[in-house]
Amino acid sequence: MDKLIIEGGVALKGDVRISGAKNAALPLMCAALLSGDPLILSNVPHLRDVTTMLRLLGQMGVNVSLDDRSGVELHARDISNPVADYELVKTMRASILVLGPLLARCGSARVSLPGGCAIGLRPVNLHIKGLEAMGAEIKVEQGYISAKATRLRGARIFMDIVTVTGTENLMMAACLADGTTILENAAREPEVVDLANCLIAMGARITGAGTDIIKVEGVKTLHGATHAIMPDRIETGTFLVAAAATGGNVRLVGADGHILDAVLDKLREAGAEIDVGTDEIRLAMDKKPRSVNVRTAPYPAFPTDMQAQFMALNAVANGTSVVTETIFENRFMHALELQRLGADIEIAGNTAVIRGVAQLQGATVMATDLRASASLVIAGLIAEGKTTIDRIYHLDRGYECIEEKLTQLGARIRRSS
Ligand code: UD1
Repeated sequence: MDKLIIEGGVALKGDVRISGAKNAALPLMCAALLSGDPLILSNVPHLRDVTTMLRLLGQMGVNVSLDDRSGVELHARDISNPVADYELVKTMRASILVLGPLLARCGSARVSLPGGCAIGLRPVNLHIKGLEAMGAEIKVEQGYISAKATRLRGARIFMDIVTVTGTENLMMAACLADGTTILENAAREPEVVDLANCLIAMGARITGAGTDIIKVEGVKTLHGATHAIMPDRIETGTFLVAAAATGGNVRLVGADGHILDAVLDKLREAGAEIDVGTDEIRLAMDKKPRSVNVRTAPYPAFPTDMQAQFMALNAVANGTSVVTETIFENRFMHALELQRLGADIEIAGNTAVIRGVAQLQGATVMATDLRASASLVIAGLIAEGKTTIDRIYHLDRGYECIEEKLTQLGARIRRSS
């Protein structure tokens, strides 16, 4: 199993290019199921989750071709097998995103229930309830969701919790439904907007994406399209925190600062100088960071996917901070690992109190989920001496070439197999 070995204490400096967004790429790839024509995606990140999604779509009969840059062509002319097996779904929860498109296009789908995961229960009841409101007959048996509908019909759907993939699944299904669907309390995440833009380019009639009410007027068929995936705001945020925590000076090329307000605000509060350009973000930090309180909530508030990285920053900041996690019930696994590096963190329920220490010390730690891994990398970059991070396969699910990119910024980091 691969490990990352980091010699800490180097301030990150230089330029790095931000990749396409994982959380946009995954739903966009599923959108290909809605049309018999090819969907061509560019700026696709090279990630394990993307490979898993390509395998899943391939098993259904989608023709997949890759070019030598970051382009993928997905052609779902015939969907021979509208099934997502447990073997792949268990490795990637976002596989649930095939459910809506399969049902809308094929009239039936069989998708494994994702089950729990390291950060919490993460049910999919709202995906199921929404599809049922659109007329689907759904049974959950033997660990699988079996869904049927001759043709979905438009409906008014209220989601009592803001769910990102739930909104995306229902928005995709509604594109081919008979009549108009209104999604209320929809997720406003930029990835939902990116997906809506691609669906509109495929002929879908969607308004309101980016607000909490999305309206979809169903059409009979969608056609092919070409779409460039938006930059990854979580990768961007992760590099910015790493630079701020190490007292660095970086330029992130291909980044979009306009979808990162909550994160940039907290970094400025911590003492960073930030300049947002049209296609880049610059960050400089010339002092020890100040502690910042963080409370996660749906977009445009502070993203849960950046919580762990800020905990690493707070671990060495001046002062005491409170981090509150409101989205997932078990998302503090990194705190125990950060303590192994000398962080002073107290957890009570969904709140962590972090007292900044003068210095972290390198140690061996274990990655438990994707963003927890990112926080351990940041902690390793700050710590004195050698940090070894075990189980980094989590990191490979969501960060493209992370050690190459960090090396480019001067970090002493290597992978050992
Ligand atoms: C997506 C992101 C993930 C991010 C999360 C929250 C992708 C591929 N993943 O995950 O990186 O951390 O949004 O921003 O885009 N819930 C229910 N019932 C449901 C669905 C969700 O109760 O049917 C709850 C969840 O347990 C959680 C909350 O709603 O407490 C938000 O989850 P959700 O937005 O659905 O997360 P994902 O879409 O799985």
